Amino acid sequence: MGKLVIYPGSFDPITNGHLSIVRRALLMFDSITIAVASNPTKKTLFTLDERMELIRESIKNHDRIVVDSFNGLLVDYVEGKKTNIILRGMRALSDFEYEFQMSLMNRKLNKNIQTIFMMTDYKWLYTSSTIIKEAARFGGAIKGLVPEIVCQKLKEKFGFQ
Ligand code: PNS
Repeated sequence: MGKLVIYPGSFDPITNGHLSIVRRALLMFDSITIAVASNPTKKTLFTLDERMELIRESIKNHDRIVVDSFNGLLVDYVEGKKTNIILRGMRALSDFEYEFQMSLMNRKLNKNIQTIFMMTDYKWLYTSSTIIKEAARFGGAIKGLVPEIVCQKLKEKFGFQ
């Protein structure tokens, strides 16, 4: 079966920064499940189905990547998948406090589950789904920051196509 890692997030929408983490995680793990939060704390631009579909279209058919969704506590979902590793990407120091808090809370909730962090590639240091959406909302050029399909959907959402 091999070692599975869970990569959770809102993915609203998936970016090239996320995909870079996925690609690099595949060098260390046998398989990766991209777990899309069905009701994240923030209000999302894309529905759960749209977020999942954009991920599927971005990764094509990769036999070591599964796209799934989860509801409720992440640690319960991870335990149900018979693994104990959560993967999170980290950009700058500004991500640290939130990630640190979340990983400690998750550990408090389930001490068997470990969170590991991968530093983003320097190319994606300044990007995030949020800032890309902000640029797209006002017609900014976001090509190269997200997969082509995401670029198209963002333009459609904001009425630029
Ligand atoms: O991409 P994001 O928005 O930074 O991802 C955050 C996410 C979805 C991983 C986080 O909010 C989460 O795990 N939500 C599910 C509820 C939960 O278990 N929260 C953490 C401990 S209270």
